[in-house]
Amino acid sequence: MNQDIEKIKQEVASFQIHNENDLEQFRLQFLSRKSALQTLLGEIKNVPAEDRKNFGQQVNLLKQEAAQRYEDAQVRVASTVVYTSNEDFTRPSGSEKTGSLHPVTLVMNQICEIFEGIGFEMVDGPEIEDDWHVFSALNFPEEHPARDMQDTFFVEQPDIVLRTHTSSVQIRVMEKRQPPIRIICPGRVFRNEVITARSHCFFHQVEALYIAKNVSFADMKQTLLYFAKQMFGEDTRIRLRPSYFPFTEPSAEMDIACKICKGEGCPVCKHTGWLEILGCGMVDHNVLKNCNIDPTIYNGYAIGIGVDRMTMMKYKINDIRLFFENDVRFLEQFTQREA
Ligand code: DAH
Repeated sequence: MNQDIEKIKQEVASFQIHNENDLEQFRLQFLSRKSALQTLLGEIKNVPAEDRKNFGQQVNLLKQEAAQRYEDAQVRVASTVVYTSNEDFTRPSGSEKTGSLHPVTLVMNQICEIFEGIGFEMVDGPEIEDDWHVFSALNFPEEHPARDMQDTFFVEQPDIVLRTHTSSVQIRVMEKRQPPIRIICPGRVFRNEVITARSHCFFHQVEALYIAKNVSFADMKQTLLYFAKQMFGEDTRIRLRPSYFPFTEPSAEMDIACKICKGEGCPVCKHTGWLEILGCGMVDHNVLKNCNIDPTIYNGYAIGIGVDRMTMMKYKINDIRLFFENDVRFLEQFTQREA
């Protein structure tokens, strides 16, 4: 009997456990009901009384040892990754997938670079604004519809809003500095609009402002032509149409000859041959006065560019919602592009 114990003890100790299979074999051989060890336990009652205690202790100790080995091996096997033998551990790792700039960011950067190239300085402003910077200082009359809750998101009544345009940054800068001022302000703006393929409740603008002495409408027009050519190519033609904005007088909207049909007329330009890309004008004297700039000495122009529209045109994207869904299949298409 004692020899049996010794034999099993050695078998338990020398049993090699490397994987699930070995583990199961071990269990069957030493821990299952039909195992030799279990048989020995059954024998205890047949052992002469004087040896029984000692025998019983030894068999139980052995059983504990076997159970412990089993448990330890179980943990070890579970944490061991099994590699197939033909795995090549020396091969180079796969190339890293890099992220990409968002198409709206690409176009925004491009617009800013063009203006920075001719001396405009980039300025940032807050997205949560007050009525003064978004409306009042920009010469919006008290009853102007843009102030309506239908168009504007109010953060706090009566006058904390999400900015509806980047023109608010003009005011922030003019309040702090005297001319000459030559700035661009890129950023996100918010409007309480129904979300469709062509409009969203948030989008992006780049505002440009130039205030100095003797600035003319012709200066603005030259700047706009330069910008359009840099952005869309040397052969780009522009036209200015009279328009209205409370903060500029006179005001205009600029179109470029449709790139797709070359001005002939197509569905993209709604058969007009022209695409509207920005609003602009000579800064209204009231706006200058609101910022303590003397309009008898200084004047200037302001330009507001809709970035999302321009991006849609540039990359022929027909649904603005694609910009904000973060669908990797869409975003991946811009990995190779540079600003
Ligand atoms: N702020 C105008 C808008 O959001 C865009 C705009 C038009 C800006 C004319 C200007 C400008 O600076 O001169 O619709």
